[in-house]
Formats: sequence, structure tokens, C-alpha cells
Amino acid sequence: MSALTEALSQGATPEEIERIPLPEEYTAAYLRKEDEDVFSGVTDKDVRKSLHVGPVGLPELAPDEVLVAVMASSINYNTVWSAMFEPMSTFRFLQQFAGQGGWASRHDRPCQVVGSDGAGIVVRTGSGVRHWRAGDHVVVSPAHVDEQEAATHADGMLGAEQRAWGFETNFGGLGEYAVVRATQLIAKPRHLTWEEAACNPLCAGTAYRMLVGDRGARMKQGDVVLIWGAAGGLGGYAVQFVRNGGGVPVGIVSSERKAAALRALGCEVVINRAEFDLTDDADTDPRRTIERGRRLGGLIRERVGADPDIVFEHVGRATFGLSVFVVRRGGTVVTCGSSTGYQHTFDNRYLWMRLKRVIGSHIANLQEQWETNRLIERGQVVPTMSAAYPLSEAAEAARAVQTNRHIGKVAVLCMAPERGLGVTDPETRARIGEDRLNPLRGFHPGTGEE
Ligand SMILES: NC(=O)c1ccc[n+]([C@@H]2O[C@H](COP(=O)([O-])OP(=O)(O)OC[C@H]3O[C@@H](n4cnc5c(N)ncnc54)[C@H](OP(=O)(O)O)[C@@H]3O)[C@@H](O)[C@H]2O)c1
Repeated sequence: MSALTEALSQGATPEEIERIPLPEEYTAAYLRKEDEDVFSGVTDKDVRKSLHVGPVGLPELAPDEVLVAVMASSINYNTVWSAMFEPMSTFRFLQQFAGQGGWASRHDRPCQVVGSDGAGIVVRTGSGVRHWRAGDHVVVSPAHVDEQEAATHADGMLGAEQRAWGFETNFGGLGEYAVVRATQLIAKPRHLTWEEAACNPLCAGTAYRMLVGDRGARMKQGDVVLIWGAAGGLGGYAVQFVRNGGGVPVGIVSSERKAAALRALGCEVVINRAEFDLTDDADTDPRRTIERGRRLGGLIRERVGADPDIVFEHVGRATFGLSVFVVRRGGTVVTCGSSTGYQHTFDNRYLWMRLKRVIGSHIANLQEQWETNRLIERGQVVPTMSAAYPLSEAAEAARAVQTNRHIGKVAVLCMAPERGLGVTDPETRARIGEDRLNPLRGFHPGTGEE
């Protein structure tokens, strides 16, 4: 155990933490520029071939940045995209960013530390940081914004220089340390363990903005919300926001195991994709989409008595035509991604004649992330973690997400030596209850967690 790890585990004072020297290198999960073409012509772009774990150099800190000792992180689907070098090489993002010059140049390196979630302890602050100090327990918002841009002040996500941290930047969350802007930090919910806290920011924040935020679908009490991939990363939080807001979640899944997980999250209306013949290699023939849409619409009416007011989209090509078809007259399809392909087709007659809307959404601004965190602090939203892998097995964890074997969120322990650490408010934890806090634990296959 390093002097710093030992000091952090013993609750050292800010002054003590700041006095401990930092290492020149740290262990992280990273991609290599030299692997950019490793998957050309390959069908199964197995992320275990491109995601390495080993030493990387610790960068110097800019004045508006904070160095976080990452106790835990989580796997997001964007790490799968990065590790497949799709839709383009992640190193092009780094080059674009470095084009700004100055401190941004540090990001363009031949290796990229990926990962867009993190929970940990502040160990250094840049000279311009006001709100945070060494020793603070924090979670990291993935929205890396430029607060000197005008648009950022209307909505952090609107600035042209907004980037997804650990995806479009270097020094992400899947490592012992992470470099973040001070504008990415939020106090860690004190009743959660490191790994529970690390699972939330990206997926919960994104789902919050899509459903609740001013620029999202603005769900109302009573709204029926169709949620694709409802037992996945985004879906598990979407279900909770819909229930909290007095809506009716209709969750779509592909297996009985996932259906059981969804019921454990409190989603009563669960539809298996097989019930309307939507398999992974589903064609998007327009006539088949209408046929499937009628079957899916019939199932939803049968179970909840109405068409969905909102469809929560991120699957993309395989489902988008269905989403536009089944959402009610005047309803909203809100989308933040395209796992199955980003060229969508849909029958526009059903959009314009029935006065529907499509809204694009991306991550969450800091205020939305803060409001999401407040719900987590109160126990109104709980982590959807189903497993925690050690950092040395980060590539296996990403592979589970890539192959859709996971449920909810998969955490990665970085500096935390074991699970269960980091709780500083055991009373709140006891009040909320272990079962309520961990509804999906035990659902992840293949890690001895079943
Ligand atoms: N823009 C943003 O801010 C943002 C933020 C987070 C995520 N995203 C994007 O959103 C997507 C989902 O992220 P996630 O974290 O929820 O991923 P995830 O944990 O892998 O969940 C995705 C779910 O999609 C469902 N799915 C997969 N293939 C499908 C198909 N052919 N038809 C219907 N459903 C299918 C799966 O559920 P079943 O197999 O059970 O149906 C799976 O659980 C990714 O592309 C990610 O990059 C974007």
C-alpha cells in the first residue's frame, strides 16, 4: 500500500494529503494509438484485445483542475465504443482537443485512459480551484465543459467545447488517479460505498436530463414511458425516475433474467422483445417495423391501457422506427444514443400527422447532475450495480457490457482494495436499508455474484 493510499484510508487531513508526494506513474485501463487498426476487417471487435491495464504517466495539473484518487469507477458503453475505435478512433478526439493548445495539449498522448465515471478523494487542487480541497469525497460528472464559453452559462451541455470526460478527453476514471475540471465535481453521497457511488453519475444524470430536465421530455405524473433496455445502464435509472415522478414505466428486455431484475427495481410492466419478434439482428424493413409496432403497441395498450407518452431511446437503428410509431399522438421520443447504428429510418407520416416530437439529449449539465445526486443522497434513487470487478479485470468488465451479458451497472474497483468501503453516513444507510440500496446485486452472471 502506498503512503498516499494508507493516508487516505486513515482519513488524513488536507495538509497531510498535500504533503505526500505523488507517483510519476499510476495504474489505469488505457487504449494505445498503435492499436487503432487492430479491428480492421474483424467482426467481433473484442474489447479485451484493445483495453490494457498497466502504468501510465501522471500529468501535471492545470489551474482549474483537481486530481482525484479514484476509489471506484464503472463501465459505460462509451468505453466499449472507445475500445472498438468506433465510430472513429478515440485518438482523433484527443487530437481535436489538443488543437486548443495550452493545457489541452497534454491530452494528445499515444495512450488514453478511458472511463467516464468515478468516485474518490481529492488529493490535489489547481491554484484556481475554490470549492474543493484535499480530502473531499467526490463523485465526478462526465460533462467536461469550458466555463469561459457563453453558451455554457445557458446550459453546460450547449458549449461547443463540451466533451465527455474519459471518452473525448484523456485521464478518465478507470485508473488509480483521474484529472478532472473542478466544474465536474459533486459531493459523494455519504451513505454509499465507493463502488455504488461510482455507478451513478453518467447513466443516472443522462436519464434524468432525458426524462425530467427542462430540455428533455419533461415527464408528467401519470405519463406512460416506454423504456428500451430497461435492465441496462441507462434503463435501470430511467425506471426509477419514472416511478418517482408518478409515471408508469413499461420496460423492454431480452431475457427472463433481465425481466426478474427489472421487477426487483419495481417495474411492474415488463415486455420481452421476443413477444413482438425483435431480435438482435432485426431488420428495419418499413413494413416489418409497422407490423412489429402494431404488436408492441397492442401489448402496451393491453397492459397499461394507453399508448406511451414518452419513449426513452438509446438503442438506435434497431428500434427508432418502432419508437416513433408507438409513441402516442403528440408524444415525445427522447434519444441519447444509437448502440445498434446511428443511421435511423422511420416513417415520417407517423411523426408529422400525429404531431410527435423527437428530442436529442446528451449527458447532463452540472445542475442536473447535482439534482440527480440529491435524489441519490435521499435514497429516492438507488445504484443499479450488479457486480464489481478489480481494475486488473477492467477489460473483462467492459466485455460483459459489450456482449450485453451485464445487468444494470458494472463497477470497477480502482484504489479501493475491496468492496464495501467509503460509507461515512452509516445511519442513513441503515435507514434506507441494504436491500433497497442494492436491488440488482446478484443478477450479474459469471463473477460468482449470482
Ligand atoms: N449521450 C449520452 O449522454 C449517453 C449516456 C449514456 C449512454 N449513452 C448511449 O446509450 C446507449 C445505451 O447505454 P447503456 O449504458 O444503457 O448501455 P447498456 O447497459 O448496454 O444497455 C443497453 C440496453 O439496450 C438493449 N439492447 C441492446 N441491443 C438491442 C436491440 N437490438 N434491440 C433492443 N434493445 C437492445 C439491451 O437490453 P435487452 O437486451 O434486455 O433488450 C441493453 O440492456 C449506448 O449506445 C451509450 O453509448 C449515451
